[in-house]
Amino acid sequence: MLGVIICVAFASFTSAFPYHQPGLESVRISGGSNATIREIPYIVQMNQDYTDISDCNASILSRLWLVTAAHCLVGLLASDVTIRAGTDKFMKDGVVIGASNLYVHPNFNNDTLDYDIGLIKLASPLTFGPNIAPISLAGAKPAIGTSAVVSGWGDLNAFSHKAPEQLQKVTLPVVADSQCPGVHTERMLCAGNSSDYKSPCYGDSGGPLAVGNTLDFFK
Ligand SMILES: *[C@@H]1O[C@H](CO)[C@@H](O)[C@H](O)[C@H]1NC(C)=O
Ligand SMILES: *[C@@H]1O[C@H](CO)[C@@H](O)[C@H](O)[C@H]1NC(C)=O
Ligand SMILES: *[C@@H]1O[C@H](CO)[C@@H](O)[C@H](O)[C@H]1NC(C)=O
Ligand SMILES: *[C@@H]1O[C@H](CO)[C@@H](O)[C@H](O)[C@H]1NC(C)=O
Repeated sequence: MLGVIICVAFASFTSAFPYHQPGLESVRISGGSNATIREIPYIVQMNQDYTDISDCNASILSRLWLVTAAHCLVGLLASDVTIRAGTDKFMKDGVVIGASNLYVHPNFNNDTLDYDIGLIKLASPLTFGPNIAPISLAGAKPAIGTSAVVSGWGDLNAFSHKAPEQLQKVTLPVVADSQCPGVHTERMLCAGNSSDYKSPCYGDSGGPLAVGNTLDFFK
């Protein structure tokens, strides 16, 4: 099955960080392992302001369109945003392309993070290959218990603030909505396991959650 679920809130089960808290900008992967870009060719890093800070990641839907979290785009101009595709190294290698338009879901709610979905239209098209490839949106939420792969360059450890240079991945079970702390809506998906400390962590905002070859977009 191919497809991406646009799904958005992600429960962070790392105990130190309840999912929804003021100022929470992103989530990171803890308990993960190194991944190569060939394993996750649909992930891109998003860069704001031409600084060396990448705050969010996104997923490739087509040569010109990327999907990310709305909260990653709010307040930005397209001219502020570049993306880096085709690399598993943090802020290194790959190709860098500017954005031509940013779209925040009109129902995005900054307080609850409902409809936390946004699109980036690129100024020039990506060239697909083994390191750059699209993933499609899933048509439905995966069943509870389904294994999902979350990837990104977030902190390896919820208690440190060290971003890994190498792309990280972690496999998490989809869990019942009732296990998500904080606000949870129809547009959100919960994955993780409170007992084994594998979790997205701060810094994974906008990154993908994939089931098989399908992408369940997450906050
Ligand atoms: C969105 O919410 C966050 C956290 O509550 C807050 O820091 C931020 O200023 C808000 N942004 C806007 C555009 O309202
Ligand atoms: C993961 O990648 C980093 C950076 O390339 C490397 O230093 C580290 O040894 C790798 N870890 C493993 C377990 O391969
Ligand atoms: C997104 O990547 C940036 C680096 O590109 C990192 O700071 C942030 O934690 C990442 N979020 C994800 C999805 O890994
Ligand atoms: C969470 O992890 C524990 C220990 O690894 C395991 O027994 C349990 O089945 C897992 N829960 C889910 C929902 O996968």
